[in-house]
Parts: sequence; C-alpha cells; structure tokens
Amino acid sequence: MITEKIQKALNEQINKEFYSAYLYLSMAAHFESENYQGFAKWMRIQSDEEYMHMLKFYDYLLQTGSKVELEAIAKPANTWNSPKEIFEAAKGHEIFITNSINSIASLAQEENDFATLNFLNWFVQEQIEEVATVTTIVEQFNLIGDNKGALFMLDRELGNRQPAKI
Ligand code: FEO
Repeated sequence: MITEKIQKALNEQINKEFYSAYLYLSMAAHFESENYQGFAKWMRIQSDEEYMHMLKFYDYLLQTGSKVELEAIAKPANTWNSPKEIFEAAKGHEIFITNSINSIASLAQEENDFATLNFLNWFVQEQIEEVATVTTIVEQFNLIGDNKGALFMLDRELGNRQPAKI
C-alpha cells in the first residue's frame, strides 16, 4: 500500500508530465507557425513521450490500488523569441522534472517504499537522457550562432527524430 503522501506526490507528477506534454505541444505549434518543420516534429514527438510518461504514473497508481486524482493543467507559454530560446526553456523544464522525480524518490526512500523506488528507477534513467539530449541541442545552437544555413540544417536534422518505443 502506498502512503497518502506518496500518492499525492505521484498524482502531482501526473500533472507535471501532462503539463510537459502540453508545453512541448505548444512549442511544436509555435515552430509549425514559423515553418521550422523539423523542430516542430521533434517537439511533437517529445510531447507524445510526455503523455506516455504521464500514463506510466497513472497506471502505477491504479495497479497499486491508489487513487488517481487529475487536476487542471496550467496554460503553457506560447510565444518565444527564437528557436534557441525554446530549447533553452525545454532544458530548464527537464531539469525541473528531474528534481521533481528525485524528490519523490527521496520521499519513497524515507518511507521504505521499495516498490515506488523501483518504479521510479526508469524515470531516473530517462531524465538523465532527457536532460543530456536537450543540453546537446542547446550547445548546437550556441555553435551555429547567427548562421542561417546551419540553423536550416539543424532543423532538418532534428526532423529525423523517430518516436521512441516506450
Ligand atoms: Fe517526462 Fe521529459 O520528462
């Protein structure tokens, strides 16, 4: 049985993952409107992955006989000044999510909730990858600076992203 405290934290994480999906979809729509088709595709796949993350928490709560409580999802930002700014915002958001996962893991440890700790392991690994990937993209933006040709190439490259098998 999962304690109320951990159930609450897991329900809050459902909301955060849902918000992540919403935020990245907002970024995808912005890229579409600016004709950055590759960045838009990358963000849309990212949004789909966040939705799958949300469902993992949802399923875990149900499997453990816990209560799922869905809350309102906050409105995400929808205007940015540049593609680089968007990926920087995505990086900041992934760091926020990593901290959130870590704090639930530390709560589970305090409460000797080994099942939840084990469940969270997948997310701990996933967050390492998420932050590393988006950090690399931000660094690529730093390298290309104001070079429009390189920006075009990066858009094409990120458009090669394929949906992950989750
Ligand atoms: Fe579900 Fe990108 O963290």
